[in-house]
Amino acid sequence: MRKSIITAAALAFPVLIAPALAQAAEPADIAAARIGYFSLVNLEMGGLAAMAKGEAPYDADRAKALAGDLGTLSEYLHDDLLAPGTSNADLAGKTRALPAIWEQTDDYRAKGMAFREAVVGLNEVAGQGQEALAAAVGKVGGTCKACHDSYRAKDF
Ligand code: HEC
Repeated sequence: MRKSIITAAALAFPVLIAPALAQAAEPADIAAARIGYFSLVNLEMGGLAAMAKGEAPYDADRAKALAGDLGTLSEYLHDDLLAPGTSNADLAGKTRALPAIWEQTDDYRAKGMAFREAVVGLNEVAGQGQEALAAAVGKVGGTCKACHDSYRAKDF
């Protein structure tokens, strides 16, 4: 008898959590997660850019750590953050993601891959002095801009 109660509880569990999962996948929540992802990218990039520009003293260990974190982020495939129905045409005021992302998916992905490759290059040289770091950070920055120019609106 007791066993069957436990079984019933176990079966009921997925049913109970299902609405919570559906809630987490609300389009506005996906857009917010996407903005959070890019905020993390921006945070790591900011530390690197400061060293590249000489606004912060070059520190090989810190440069390697920041580049490593950017590497981790660049490997995160953010496909889940690109659910249909989450562009700025769908969610005005909540996202700057342009509908072009979903119209030119291959090009968007190519721009994502260019970013990833530039970050690999950055990781190869991050510990090799300020000049090498600055050049590699500049390359990464170019890939951020290339994607934003085509796929991110200027304003919310
Ligand atoms: C493959 C495309 C792509 C690449 C590469 C990319 N971004 Fe973005 N980024 C976007 C898109 C799309 C958005 C808009 C997200 C939204 O509003 O939903 C965005 C948003 C942002 C935001 C705004 C977050 C906010 O508060 O609204 C920042 C900051 C940012 N990116 C920084 C960077 C930096 C720094 C890099 C490079 C190190 C980078 N991005 C690389 C596509 C890209």
